[in-house]
Amino acid sequence: MSGAPIKSVGILGSGIMAGGIAEVVARAGVRAILRARSEASATASVNGVAAGLARQVEKGKLDASERDRILANISTTTDLAALSGCDLLIESVVEDLETKQRLFRDLDAVTNPSAVLATNTSTLPVVEMAKVVKNPERVCGIHFFNPAQVLPLVEVVRPVTAGDETIRRAAEFVSTIGKDGVHVLDRAGFIVNALLFPYLNNAVRMFEDGTASMADIDTAMKGGCNFPMGPFALLDLVGLDTSLSILETLHASFGHENFAPRPMLRELVAKGRLGRKTKAGFYEY
Ligand code: 3HC
Repeated sequence: MSGAPIKSVGILGSGIMAGGIAEVVARAGVRAILRARSEASATASVNGVAAGLARQVEKGKLDASERDRILANISTTTDLAALSGCDLLIESVVEDLETKQRLFRDLDAVTNPSAVLATNTSTLPVVEMAKVVKNPERVCGIHFFNPAQVLPLVEVVRPVTAGDETIRRAAEFVSTIGKDGVHVLDRAGFIVNALLFPYLNNAVRMFEDGTASMADIDTAMKGGCNFPMGPFALLDLVGLDTSLSILETLHASFGHENFAPRPMLRELVAKGRLGRKTKAGFYEY
């Protein structure tokens, strides 16, 4: 596999993470092509990026010319074949293994064989995506944190199948876009989610038990640990559907009851209260 620097990145998906990743990539002067299944969702995602940049221009934190340069580096498509010239592909679609595997098979057929194929999965085994492509050496995880524009960390995940050159190029890319990369093996939850989600789940248990109110638990963890947000605010930020699927995968992998999703989380998801993105989760927005 050629070790050429990464000059253009295809981003698959149109959710909060896909838009955030596109912005980070474009800000670093690297071309970002955001591919969604429909033109409407691709446009909505880029409109979200544009709105965030507009707020920064209003606050005087970004020049209008810089905003224009970032937006000019982002294009959209619905056509997978439009990603054939990309050096790196970052999949950030729904956390469903079959959907991701189907996409990796399709990407394998249309992308340059020297391109790195990465997944932004939170907890699914990266090796399951590597398995479905002809050359599994070119598959790894590149895992961003929400909001991707703000949080400095990216986990570079090495499945057993990955080539050293793939991991080197992924780590080099992470550094090019100004993020702090850490290396981790392909275990459920990698570093951050494996440690974070038992804590978030136990906060829900504590509220269910009647030990304290949600607001007081959030205040306690902010004031007592200097965390930027408390557990309920963070669950709402991550999305309760995403949080539920992360806990289910962690529970299936490790079996510990700390990972078994709490009933209240399941109930809120069943009611469609998915957090900030639906304007209601543990809190109302
Ligand atoms: N998109 C873009 N920028 C955003 C943003 C967003 N969604 N939210 C906040 N920002 C920017 C603001 O514009 C502001 O930038 P500025 O200083 O240049 O003006 C800066 O971030 C700080 O924002 P605010 O002043 O509005 O608010 P806070 O200081 O309270 O910060 C926060 C908000 C950045 C969300 C902070 O509370 C935080 O870091 N919270 C923790 C988030 C966290 O832990 N995320 C990890 C979740 S786990 C995960 O993602 C893994 C996945 O697999 C599930």
